[in-house]
Amino acid sequence: MKEEQMNAVGTAISVCEGCRLCRTRNNTVMGEGNVNSRILFVGEGPGQEEDKQGRPFVGPAGQLLDKMLLSIGLDRSKVYIANIVKCRPPQNRVPEEDEAEACLPFLRKQFAIIKPDIVVCLGATAARYLIDRNIRITRDRGNWYEKKGCSFIATFHPSALLRDQDKKKDAWEDMKKIREKLDGIQ
Ligand code: URA
Repeated sequence: MKEEQMNAVGTAISVCEGCRLCRTRNNTVMGEGNVNSRILFVGEGPGQEEDKQGRPFVGPAGQLLDKMLLSIGLDRSKVYIANIVKCRPPQNRVPEEDEAEACLPFLRKQFAIIKPDIVVCLGATAARYLIDRNIRITRDRGNWYEKKGCSFIATFHPSALLRDQDKKKDAWEDMKKIREKLDGIQ
């Protein structure tokens, strides 16, 4: 049931021409994972490898995300992973506001299907569009925000962790909080 609903969203995404990113994409990246999961991870947008494969977080940042998941006993079969925009921004630039706004209805549909208890925003872009426009990732990461009957938290994007190892300690604290929250609801 949920799978069929999610497939329908994927079909709509695959033919979307709602913003300029459709002109430069090779593949749309709708997201993937367990539609019955209690937890949804949201990144920024597909990179080069994701654009090539049509799957989220399959490049270097994805390998680190897999390790972050494993560190708290999760893997891709237990979570759902999506992005703010479903098409790769050229040169991996941050999505423009109008691109994000054009794409957000797809993520809202995915949220409505999954009905997660927890949303993890990976990086500033996801946090900005899903938690608060004025959020600052270094200041506000690791805090819980209750919205729409769901607990939202922001942590560093795995790409940021690859660039700056010093951030890993904080990210680990965030992952532990996420594990504790999951334990509390299951
Ligand atoms: N970075 C993202 O934000 N999302 C992906 O899917 C890959 C890299």
